[in-house]
Amino acid sequence: MKEPLILGIESSCDETAAAVIRGRTLLSDEISSSASIQAKYGGVVPEIASRAHTDAVGEVVARALRVASVKKEDLDAVAVTYGAGLLGALLVGLMYAKGLAFGLRIPLIGVDHIRGHLAAAYLEDETLRPPFVTLLASGGHTAILYTKTETEFEILGGTLDDAAGEAFDKVARVLGLSYPGGPHVEALAREGTPSIPMPKMLKGLGGYDFSYSGLKTHIVNYVHTAEQRGEKVNRADLACSFQHAALDILVEKTVEAAREKGTDTVTAGGGVIANGYLREALQAACASAGLRLVLPAKRRCTDNGAMIASEGLIQYRAGNFSPLTLNARASIPLR
Ligand code: KG4
Ligand code: ZN
Repeated sequence: MKEPLILGIESSCDETAAAVIRGRTLLSDEISSSASIQAKYGGVVPEIASRAHTDAVGEVVARALRVASVKKEDLDAVAVTYGAGLLGALLVGLMYAKGLAFGLRIPLIGVDHIRGHLAAAYLEDETLRPPFVTLLASGGHTAILYTKTETEFEILGGTLDDAAGEAFDKVARVLGLSYPGGPHVEALAREGTPSIPMPKMLKGLGGYDFSYSGLKTHIVNYVHTAEQRGEKVNRADLACSFQHAALDILVEKTVEAAREKGTDTVTAGGGVIANGYLREALQAACASAGLRLVLPAKRRCTDNGAMIASEGLIQYRAGNFSPLTLNARASIPLR
């Protein structure tokens, strides 16, 4: 039987993205970002994001179909992010997807954005099958999950306060780096060493939980105290020390979770997984623990259409289709 051809559309934040997959094979993965416009404002302005999506969505979808060499009439389903995210931004992609699904008489599949991040790994390795342990680290979520089946996971632990990405964004602001913070902190950290002591409280928490607010506050205080004393901060060393403290704990706990669960496979997803230091640390830790690591390509860790199509395929196979009355949701609990 021919594998289903699925279009995925993503518009929850500042990326308008569309991709086409045939089964788990990626045929196209297109993106248009308003991040450079948003950078002027130091964060995402919802109305600017919505307008940028409105301008881009038709062209990005057309490009995804063209690059994949398929016609819209060949599609078997349209998968689209319906939450969580900025409501106005979500509605642009959702309405476009509804129009396509209605016009083509094919199923609409509403996708939970976070489940999309988790499904990105399936496109990286067609042989990937649960169970496995997954590290989720994005702008809104940071958690270690035990993925039991393609549709079910158990939360082993997670952040008690801020998400890892949020901490990167906050630290970037304090260091005078522009939005989005993560890649800028990573670039600056590459020029430094982890020589500045960081609070150890992160490791003090039991199980698979962790906390970022203490670390974030420490960095903010460190910079402000230095400013008050008229001392110069070694920004690269500070970025590097922060990066180690923020990410080492994730690597440690992910490997621990895989050992405890007795699984030989680890996956990861979310914007923070694009971090080169984290990727190398995960690779090294998994290799020495004898674990197979399936990491999505960097561009499929940050928001993209391919991950939405990948989760769409899972829902398609499970027969989970959405009504055309599906509404956008600003928040969806992790489940
Ligand atoms: O998954 P994502 O693109 O959007 C959400 O669903 O939240 O994640 C965005 C987050 C931002 O906080 C951003 O600073 C962070 O991921 N991020 C990174 C890197 N690239 C993106 N954090 C650390 N290092 C990076 N290279
Ligand atoms: Zn995301």
